[in-house]
Amino acid sequence: MLPPSSPTTPSAAPPDVAYPKTVRSFVRRAGRTTTGQAKALQTLGPRYVLPYAPAALDVEAAFGRRAPLVLEIGFGMGEATAHIARLRPHDDFLCCEVHEPGVGALLKRIGEHGITNIRIVQHDAVEVLTHMLAPGSLDGVHIFFPDPWHKKRHHKRRLIQPPFVALLASRLKPGGYVHCATDWQPYAEQMLAVLSAEPLLRNASTDPALGGYAPRPDYRPLTKFEQRGLRLGHGVWDLVFVRRDG
Ligand SMILES: C[S@@+](CC[C@H](N)C(=O)[O-])C[C@H]1O[C@@H](n2cnc3c(N)ncnc32)[C@H](O)[C@@H]1O
Repeated sequence: MLPPSSPTTPSAAPPDVAYPKTVRSFVRRAGRTTTGQAKALQTLGPRYVLPYAPAALDVEAAFGRRAPLVLEIGFGMGEATAHIARLRPHDDFLCCEVHEPGVGALLKRIGEHGITNIRIVQHDAVEVLTHMLAPGSLDGVHIFFPDPWHKKRHHKRRLIQPPFVALLASRLKPGGYVHCATDWQPYAEQMLAVLSAEPLLRNASTDPALGGYAPRPDYRPLTKFEQRGLRLGHGVWDLVFVRRDG
């Protein structure tokens, strides 16, 4: 088994050294790992889970080929992730999630469907982007339904903030895209404002009738959670931005 990463713990710093408090976009949730997920973690983890390391990832070695690379941040239980990976076999998907049952759930799907173009890093995606991925290395980024952090005092935990989007844009190749989706309108508005303000990005949605949002790209499936929300009359907003040249 791979060593578990512990994004919320301050590693082996000596007790008298204050660990810098970072605002994280997640909290460690207690969650039961099912027997099937545990089995997948044990049997498929060594092949599909890459250890986090603060060093550049050899992407070609990790996937065993050279292909367009998409980073997914916060895949939850991996329903959309597995669907998209099967739909786009010519692309590789590096997928970050901190919640262990979710990692087990995606591994289970990988096993069930014989998926070969997914690798998982069970670690804070911000650190993965910062340390493991080189500038200009990504063809795409997927961030679907990131935690909305409804309460005002928690807004600082939202992933889509200017410094993070600048980091994201720097990791994209020119022409690479970032695709976000949310069902929380105030967060959709924040995403639109923050992504629009990033000089390296331009909005791929140019239809004035859509107000800056994008039609749902065909590859993103309607998950069970989203279908339920839509039935209840809730909205969903997709945003697709592309990195400018140069
Ligand atoms: C609301 S869930 C959405 C899951 C999934 N994308 C979906 O559409 O169902 C957000 C997920 O993002 C994960 N997450 C939040 N911040 C993260 C980070 N910085 N790195 C990796 N995963 C993160 C959380 O653990 C959680 O599972």
